[in-house]
Amino acid sequence: MRKMQDKITSLLNEIKQSTAGSAEELENFRVRFISKKSVIGSLFSELKNVANEDKREVGQQLNELKNSAQTKFKELINQVDQQKNSGDSIDIDVTLPDGGIELGAVHPLSYIQFKIIEIFERIGFNVADGPEIEDDWHNFSALNFPENHPAREMQDTFFIERDPDILLRTHTSNVQVRLTENERPPIRSIMPGRVFRNEAISARAHCVFHQVEGLYVDKNVSFVDLKHTLYHFAQEMFGKDTKVRYRPSYFPFTEPSAEIDISCQICHGDGCQLCKYTGWVEIAGSGMVDPNVLKNCEIDPEEYTGFAFGMGIERITQLKFRVNDLRLYTENDVRFLKQFRSLH
Ligand code: DAH
Repeated sequence: MRKMQDKITSLLNEIKQSTAGSAEELENFRVRFISKKSVIGSLFSELKNVANEDKREVGQQLNELKNSAQTKFKELINQVDQQKNSGDSIDIDVTLPDGGIELGAVHPLSYIQFKIIEIFERIGFNVADGPEIEDDWHNFSALNFPENHPAREMQDTFFIERDPDILLRTHTSNVQVRLTENERPPIRSIMPGRVFRNEAISARAHCVFHQVEGLYVDKNVSFVDLKHTLYHFAQEMFGKDTKVRYRPSYFPFTEPSAEIDISCQICHGDGCQLCKYTGWVEIAGSGMVDPNVLKNCEIDPEEYTGFAFGMGIERITQLKFRVNDLRLYTENDVRFLKQFRSLH
């Protein structure tokens, strides 16, 4: 029993005098006094050899030893932490050369978004923003969507709440309404942003993507203005020999409506998979703002007219950089992102 008690006393002293100036010293303390194979652990296993009448006393002393080791360990952890925070940790070798600065790359979607903004800003458009979580009025009703339009169904739209409906915007056209409600003409804005649709994710469809909306409302705005503005955009974005065509279409919020195609950037009209052998690819929807939409925003359609358009940023990026799988944009695979290092 004496021998055991001597060991306990000398270990108690050792613990009291321990210090730790680094993570390594802390670890040494842990191994010696706290871990399963610690000296204290082995004393506990020797307890069975102590005479029965002394077991109680020695056991108590061992428990005290164990507690004081644990208390000290906590103190040492704090001590090392504080040293680290005060910046004088001896773990850091300030003489080592640094690892060099790794430059990231601009994301191709951001790059194209900046380019689109740049082109429209140069011809007098400003940039506007709106919410991604939207109510039914701004995403659908004010835009003249009929009550039973399929876009209002669960399979197309992510609803957050029903009755009254709160949803993730399905297009950037909601910003058109928000702008027109709050501003008086002339309005000449572009509105980039993220949109959401309840689609299964594949190479050609995604539940999150990006659009740019455009709106021009003033006296005497005509379809000619729409045609020429988007022609100018196509030339600036894709080059002077890009052809543009307008196909009659339908959107609830424009009348007349047109889809805008440009000559295929991949095959230049010869026919390929991307343009489905037509030589043309669609880049935007557009049209003259429906008088009902202007009325909903308290603008007199007898006095003012406007044009609007909406295009997918992923689409433009695909045509510029030949990205053939939509999923690449959001997977954050550095092997993909690295390829855009030279963009500014
Ligand atoms: N909001 C339409 C969509 O998501 C795109 C669009 C078409 C926007 C025509 C417009 C427009 O402003 O005039 O498919």
